[in-house]
Amino acid sequence: MNLNNDRSVRKLKEHESIPYSLLLLADETKEAIDVYIKDSEIYVLEIENKISKENKIIGIYVLQSRDDNKIEIKNIAVDEKFQGQGIGTFLLKDAEVRSRKNGFKTIIIGTADAGIKQLYLYQKVGFEIFEVKKNFFIDNYPEPIYENGVLLKDRVMLKKVL
Ligand code: ACO
Repeated sequence: MNLNNDRSVRKLKEHESIPYSLLLLADETKEAIDVYIKDSEIYVLEIENKISKENKIIGIYVLQSRDDNKIEIKNIAVDEKFQGQGIGTFLLKDAEVRSRKNGFKTIIIGTADAGIKQLYLYQKVGFEIFEVKKNFFIDNYPEPIYENGVLLKDRVMLKKVL
């Protein structure tokens, strides 16, 4: 399989099933995803299998407007087989360009305090930390969540002016 030459991202159509398996890479439970997914727009990146000609979604991001000026990336994920190839960076930039075109002034994103790779990636593309929601993962999830052996506690919020 090869990435489409233009790596174009498209909006998921209403009749298409929601790619929960990808969304669940970035969020703990389907229930947590369902809280925001209905009021959000889902964008996907596909590749074509050159032999079967079938498309497969390998990247995703979810946008939810917070007000007329501010939009949030609620979920971003890349199929594990395709991580580390620049696709996450590409999706973040795509979300940024799309949001700017749609008139938003600020884009925000939140991640766990122990999400070292995500924190690095978001800051590398220009996001800055503006808030730490203390004990967010302890207060809002029924079970303790561990990432790389570390108990998730706080949610770090980052923003970028568009
Ligand atoms: N540890 C540290 N850094 C790493 C690792 C790693 N294991 N793997 C890759 N990186 C670095 C890369 O080297 C790259 O930096 P560089 O350009 O300086 O080399 C940087 O991370 C970004 O790499 P990309 O290839 O652009 O990102 P990728 O396609 O892997 O996508 C993503 C990043 C979306 C976080 C992906 O890893 C993923 O789907 N993870 C699981 C889901 C997730 O955690 N999503 C975010 C949750 S928060 C939210 O959704 C709002």
